[in-house]
Amino acid sequence: MKKTAKILVTLLVIAAMAFTLTACGGGSDKQQEEKIVFGTNAEFPPFEFVASEGVIGEFDGIDMAIADLIAKDNGMTAEISNMEFDSLLIALENGQVDAVIAGMTVTAERLEAVDFSTPYYLATQVMIVKEDSAIAKATDMADKKIAVIQGYTGEICVQDMGYSYTSFKKGTDAVMELVNGKADVVVIDSATASKYVSDNEGLKIVEDSEAFASEEYAIAVKKGNTELLDKINASIQKLLDEGTVAELADKYSVAE
Ligand code: ARG
Repeated sequence: MKKTAKILVTLLVIAAMAFTLTACGGGSDKQQEEKIVFGTNAEFPPFEFVASEGVIGEFDGIDMAIADLIAKDNGMTAEISNMEFDSLLIALENGQVDAVIAGMTVTAERLEAVDFSTPYYLATQVMIVKEDSAIAKATDMADKKIAVIQGYTGEICVQDMGYSYTSFKKGTDAVMELVNGKADVVVIDSATASKYVSDNEGLKIVEDSEAFASEEYAIAVKKGNTELLDKINASIQKLLDEGTVAELADKYSVAE
């Protein structure tokens, strides 16, 4: 009996060692798995912008806080790779980044190239105009100088309406054009528009819910990367259920 017990203990010790070895196996791989590289374009307040002290290095905003919380929820750290908006989905396909969080609207065209997470924010396109502008609905833009941002859904909307427009690289550039009187209207996402209007004198927002549909922001991952997508979705669900996304939106957005 004593001998059997001894054998049993030995077996248990071996089993425990084997388990430990498995858990530690591939140490170098594990180090790579410990971070999620998020691609963004930090030119889109209040979702992502550069600040002196952001949530992730110099990067701050609603999306940056969400990225940080998703990584932490999975025992990982978030790293930000900042690039032009147009390069984000290519960087994802090339494997330069693991995920894209950029106030990015889910569209049928983008869904052909990447997979999207559960949406975490609802937005719509709006028009920013000078306070004394006569523009009151989207069709009033017909003969006006329209400014949009390259690759944004706002550009696609204006294109679909059949109006001619000028595209800019950054929201701030388009808004400066409006402030300087070189453009009559900027079409851009609602929360970002509010930010620009509060930061610049003499501007107002014009909404037209008949012309502009509602848009859903989601995180993009490489097509078929279900492992990361499942993790992201589980974390987003928690953040939505706990009201964290709403709190962040409040914290970073201007009081209306
Ligand atoms: N929601 C718009 C889109 O998906 C604009 C997003 C711009 N985001 C940014 N980080 N620059 O096209």
